[in-house]
Amino acid sequence: MSDEHQQQPPTSSSGKERFDRVIGRERREPEELQNPVPRPLAALAIALMVWGAWYYFQNTDYPVAAGDRRTAIVIDPSAAIDGGAVYAANCVACHQATGAGLAGVFPPLADSQWVLGDEARLVQILLHGIAGPIEVRGQVYAGVMPAFAQLSDGEIAAVLTHVRSTWGNSASPITADQVTAGRNRFPDREAPWNGGAELDQAFPPASSRRRAPGDLALMAATPVPLAGERTPRH
Ligand code: HEC
Repeated sequence: MSDEHQQQPPTSSSGKERFDRVIGRERREPEELQNPVPRPLAALAIALMVWGAWYYFQNTDYPVAAGDRRTAIVIDPSAAIDGGAVYAANCVACHQATGAGLAGVFPPLADSQWVLGDEARLVQILLHGIAGPIEVRGQVYAGVMPAFAQLSDGEIAAVLTHVRSTWGNSASPITADQVTAGRNRFPDREAPWNGGAELDQAFPPASSRRRAPGDLALMAATPVPLAGERTPRH
């Protein structure tokens, strides 16, 4: 093979110029752009990130105070229930805001022996209601007192504590535990108390208690486990 047939850049000056012009007309081959982030900028970004992390961990003591200024509300189940509010919502329509009731229709709670007397009896009035004649401050009422068993033990305790300490009443508070005990005392009872007579029967007034013949029977009917008594095994 002779060299004559191989392509050679033209050797004449005019030929070289032409070659250069042709090449110069061509656009450059496209290539992928490569624009790296300028080093000083990258260094600044990294420095900011490091400083941010440092700042965050330096200040973890009070991030909430710094940003979120809402007051946290702690819902405390043992927080006192407002007995006055329970009264206003459930009792005021009948017994009135004054606690004086409505003459001849709704008995007064102010200065009432049913309110100031036996606590367990009062709890039962709320848990089961009353239907039957009841004497309050010398007057007999024959209406219907609805049951309030749907209220929570805490609400019943609060409203009873309220009525026992308002309108001149001054008697010990009622606790939620007393209401719980009251619920367990007559668990099968569905009917309301049949007036003052049945309440007196279940809760004999203190004056007649010493002589009441039913007392011993009542005590006998309530088995009290003796100390050391064992449950029989089968
Ligand atoms: C719908 C009307 C009505 C509502 C509501 C009502 N009561 Fe009564 N309450 C009566 C009536 C009527 C009597 C008398 C029952 C009867 O005549 O047999 C009574 C009797 C009583 C008694 C015993 C008698 C006395 O005057 O001391 C108490 C205690 C009592 N209610 C407390 C309450 C409480 C506490 C509430 C609220 C949780 C309440 N009542 C809601 C109508 C109502």
